[in-house]
Amino acid sequence: MVLPDADVSTVLVRPCDPKFGDYQTNALMSLAKARKLNPRQLATDVVAKLDVSALCEKVEIAGAGFLNFRLLPAAFAQTINAAACGKHLFFDRAAAPRTIVIDFSSPNVAKPMHVGHIRSTGIGDALQRTLRLLGHQVISDNHIGDWGTQFGKLLLGWKSGITGFKNTNEDLRLKFEPLLKEDPIAALEWLYKVINSACDGQPAVLEEAKAELVKLQAGDAENVSIWKEMTALSQKQFDTIYGRLGVKFDQALGESFYNPWLGQVVTGLLARGIARESEGAVGVFSDGSMPPKEDPFLVSRDGEWVADPALVRKSDGGFNYMTTDLATIDYRLKTWSPTEIVYVVDDRQSPHFKKLFLTFARWKQDDAKKVKLVHVGFGKILGEDGKPFKTRSGDTVKLGDLLDEAQERAFALVKSKQLERPEAERVPENLWPEIARVVGIGSVKYADLLPNRQSDYIFNWDKMLAFNGNTAPYLQYAYARIQSIFRKAETSNIEHRTSNIELKAAEEIALARHLLNFGITLEAVADEYRPNYLCNYLYELAGKFTSFYENCPVLKADDEATRASRLGLCALTARVLKQGLETLGIETVEQM
Ligand code: ARG
Repeated sequence: MVLPDADVSTVLVRPCDPKFGDYQTNALMSLAKARKLNPRQLATDVVAKLDVSALCEKVEIAGAGFLNFRLLPAAFAQTINAAACGKHLFFDRAAAPRTIVIDFSSPNVAKPMHVGHIRSTGIGDALQRTLRLLGHQVISDNHIGDWGTQFGKLLLGWKSGITGFKNTNEDLRLKFEPLLKEDPIAALEWLYKVINSACDGQPAVLEEAKAELVKLQAGDAENVSIWKEMTALSQKQFDTIYGRLGVKFDQALGESFYNPWLGQVVTGLLARGIARESEGAVGVFSDGSMPPKEDPFLVSRDGEWVADPALVRKSDGGFNYMTTDLATIDYRLKTWSPTEIVYVVDDRQSPHFKKLFLTFARWKQDDAKKVKLVHVGFGKILGEDGKPFKTRSGDTVKLGDLLDEAQERAFALVKSKQLERPEAERVPENLWPEIARVVGIGSVKYADLLPNRQSDYIFNWDKMLAFNGNTAPYLQYAYARIQSIFRKAETSNIEHRTSNIELKAAEEIALARHLLNFGITLEAVADEYRPNYLCNYLYELAGKFTSFYENCPVLKADDEATRASRLGLCALTARVLKQGLETLGIETVEQM
């Protein structure tokens, strides 16, 4: 070993420009920099000790200290054949599995899930699927917003709007009761708006709402039971959406779950001098250990740095989002001992997470060393006008409505594609709705996973539903088309597990080389929490398959061996496409 203390889990080998080789790593440069070594010298020392002769040609050192690897043809053929006969699919399950908590989706009770929730839900799900596929132990946890000041207003509204409570308000009741039956979430949302605006003008109403919240937090039986009912109504709506999206969680411990520990968190922080009182509230302030520019506990106002504390207790004694998140980390560490906790949350919450991670490190120094806390942030979804995506009337777009529209649009598209074909080549009509569901939902998910997650992107139906371009339908169609080759050959993809793949044509070699990179792509997704790498990989795979298929006859190959080899390559491509899409949370159909 040249550097026994180096963290090799961060050494990335990536596919590279074929000019340089098949794979390249720049890891030695950063290792050398951190240790103030000459990178080329380090590279020379490493190559001298590196024995990869069974797999690669002579390793080359390039530039400032890159290592370039070129696979030996025999190693290449062996890997492809082992995959083609079903021994692997180009990835290994982790030798040292990590335990990772992923906190994602996390909608708020009594509000409808809106288009923005597709982001955290889709990215989080793709990450949990990738990490599980690579053999890690994942605990996905939906940190539902089921506790907080909104419940004071909701409780007051509920009691005013439902028959049987002593202060029932007739006008409110006449609208609320039927709406509650028809669309409970819309009813709760409406109720909140009504009470909220009443609170604005009438301090007495606000006081009443606060009193309801205090009663709830003190465990008042009536309020707790109404709160449970509201939570259950929301959960039902969430579950419908998760069902449609095919997303599952191991845990759904909402904010309320941590309520019993919040007092202790604040007392602990106060006792250790990490938090202090200020204007009746309690907050964590800068400890002065960082330059102001990087310090999340400071903000610049009129050219001066002023305190921006992490509040953990309000002046009325209530607790904050931060307090719950601190208790949550503590609970997760005690319960699952994860090596990582990943938060898939909007980039706008980045200051919150910076403060959270720093506060936790000050609060529990030893625990903090054992866990990596990561905020996986993402940008906004925009409309064509470049402003946040809204309905025509300017309301937020409800996720359920969006998925309905996706399926409707996909159906129209599937139908018109089918009608373009001669009748004998059409997919039976009773399958169209299912194809439309898979394509519609897949399109919305894929369009959200495809951009770099930190960029904002413009929501565009035509683009995401196009059969050409980097879209779900294009990839789903590529898969279905391969399956149709097997239907034509009157065999199935399973029967084409072969260990006699012979790569001759340039397109065959290019396709096979790309297949080989599936595992490395999955690793990159897991390392950087970026599902878009997998999207781009699959898109390229479909493109390489198309050139292969256009240039290398499969069913009409010159001889039986070539035909079998090419069918094997088709089958392998189909498996990677299907597995890849599944890892992104996207379904496939056998024909479309
Ligand atoms: N419910 C929060 C929101 O809608 C997101 C929660 C994210 N997770 C967390 N542990 N803070 O903004």
